[in-house]
Amino acid sequence: MVICSAPGKIFLFGEHAVVYGEPAIACAIELRTSVRVREGKKSKIASPYVAGAVKKISELVELERVNIDIHSDIPTGSGLGSSAAVTIATLFALNIEFDVGLSKEEIAHLGHEVERDVQGAASLTDTFVSTMGGVIFLPSCKRLNSLNCGVVIGNTGLSSSTKEIVDQVAKLKDRHSDIIQPLFHIIGELAKKGEYLVEKGDYKNIGELMNVNQGLLESLGVGSSELAKQIYAARKAGAFGAKITGAGGGGCMVALVDVDDMEEVASAIESVGGRAIYTKVTETGVTHDG
Ligand code: PMV
Repeated sequence: MVICSAPGKIFLFGEHAVVYGEPAIACAIELRTSVRVREGKKSKIASPYVAGAVKKISELVELERVNIDIHSDIPTGSGLGSSAAVTIATLFALNIEFDVGLSKEEIAHLGHEVERDVQGAASLTDTFVSTMGGVIFLPSCKRLNSLNCGVVIGNTGLSSSTKEIVDQVAKLKDRHSDIIQPLFHIIGELAKKGEYLVEKGDYKNIGELMNVNQGLLESLGVGSSELAKQIYAARKAGAFGAKITGAGGGGCMVALVDVDDMEEVASAIESVGGRAIYTKVTETGVTHDG
């Protein structure tokens, strides 16, 4: 029997534009998904991501009777990378239990293939960050300094389909390519400037540029009134910056916060109907826990 866990993630900058090759910055967070794999009575697998992970490994080694249990702190369909975390933790656990011999890089790439098979378009962001942990600049996958501040997430409780929202943005880009392409480019420029600010630990300016990124995500049509309320409430309560994280539509917003202001920001988010989650950035990617 093997137990492995992998973290969820937030985007500081660059969701959506990253699908078109622009830079982005994403960070692993302390919320995790744990997967237990045993050789034994074959379990019924409900998650297409877990089924996809099992299929990938079964193409490499014989995998007849495998039993899988999942436990997750990460709300699903909410922009926090829950599907990548379950995919990566499953691949890692199968890799150990069945002596497959894959490296972490190979696990991240196989996980990306699983996400692409299930969702259509998907960037390497979620699976790479979940595998490696830390603050990652994409597409080069360069590791940046960690963030030594608080992260407060506001969950709308409304699940949204990443695939549908990515398709919606693709259609907007097809209709108005001359307008939308430059917006993607500016989002990429925000991520590049963000790289420098993260290395300096300049949370005030990171927050200010997260707010600019939010304006551009609104322009792409991925905002919602529930998300906007929580974003404004968090900023008013003293967050360095606040924006959508992930695909948008429903899902979550994220606020970067001084650790002393976390409670105030969380209660502001709750006062407008959000479910607040306190977390921090973690350097720990996928782990073998037992
Ligand atoms: O909602 P999430 O956590 O799956 O993030 C989606 C991020 C997008 O940039 C919209 C898509 C992607 O695959 O990068």
